[in-house]
Amino acid sequence: MKAMQREFASQSAQAGIIEQESAHTSGVYPKRPLALVRGAGARVWDADGREYIDCVGGQGAANLGHAHPAVVRAVSEQARRLISCPEIFHNDQRARLLDRLAAVAPPGLERAFLCNSGAEAVEAAIKFARLSTGRSQVIAAIRGFHGRTMGALSATWAPAYREPFEPLVPGFRHVPYNDLDAMHEAINTETAAVILEVVQGEGGVHPAVPGYLPGVQLMCEERGARLFVPPNEFLVDNGAMIAWQGVLQKKAATKNYSALTIRPYERTDDVEVFWR
Ligand SMILES: Cc1ncc(COP(=O)(O)O)c(C=O)c1O
Repeated sequence: MKAMQREFASQSAQAGIIEQESAHTSGVYPKRPLALVRGAGARVWDADGREYIDCVGGQGAANLGHAHPAVVRAVSEQARRLISCPEIFHNDQRARLLDRLAAVAPPGLERAFLCNSGAEAVEAAIKFARLSTGRSQVIAAIRGFHGRTMGALSATWAPAYREPFEPLVPGFRHVPYNDLDAMHEAINTETAAVILEVVQGEGGVHPAVPGYLPGVQLMCEERGARLFVPPNEFLVDNGAMIAWQGVLQKKAATKNYSALTIRPYERTDDVEVFWR
């Protein structure tokens, strides 16, 4: 009987949280009927005390697990020292972070724009591309997902995301993914940027075939367009930050775009592109 009472009470705890949040949330995010309140490493617990293996990892933001002692220590220490420091000032910790990012980025990428979300990163990328090229067109891929803000949504393909908010930002077009010929046709002197996922996530799980990204990179380089490859949760969760670096660092032997053949390799860091 006591066990049943405990069960009833704990169910009420979770139900109460769900009811309270549902009453005031925007409704933008469909939610699973779980109220998670605690985590340790790769495990999380709901308000009823039930334990789960966390296969979400904060959608890439909690890669070191929950309550990792080093993270807890660093966050607590910084909160005690300086809770926030906007970019109108310099800051010791931001300087260290930028330094570390530059150390793991591919050669030549020495600067980072720090922001809070994927969509903001995409917005910034679009603006950097427009500013640095003086062009306004952006090419994205069919099935691509880049976020829900107006610019990022314009690069996103799925009609279900786009149509309720049209008209979107002009100058975006979508070409088939993994199709170098289609990209070859699309990039022109008006193209400011090409934006592609290494693994299409929201659109299903579609990895770039070997040779595709280096091929697009060469086209962009030759035609003066920027190539953006935003890391998404698939890469982050697989610890594969190095994979896109490897893909992008490989260059083709020649730059004759009349036609092309892709030779597939098993490993992404062994890709090559052959132009004929
Ligand atoms: C490839 C990609 N780009 C952009 C985003 C948007 O990121 P955020 O939800 O942090 O704005 C996502 C989110 O799922 C994503 O997978």
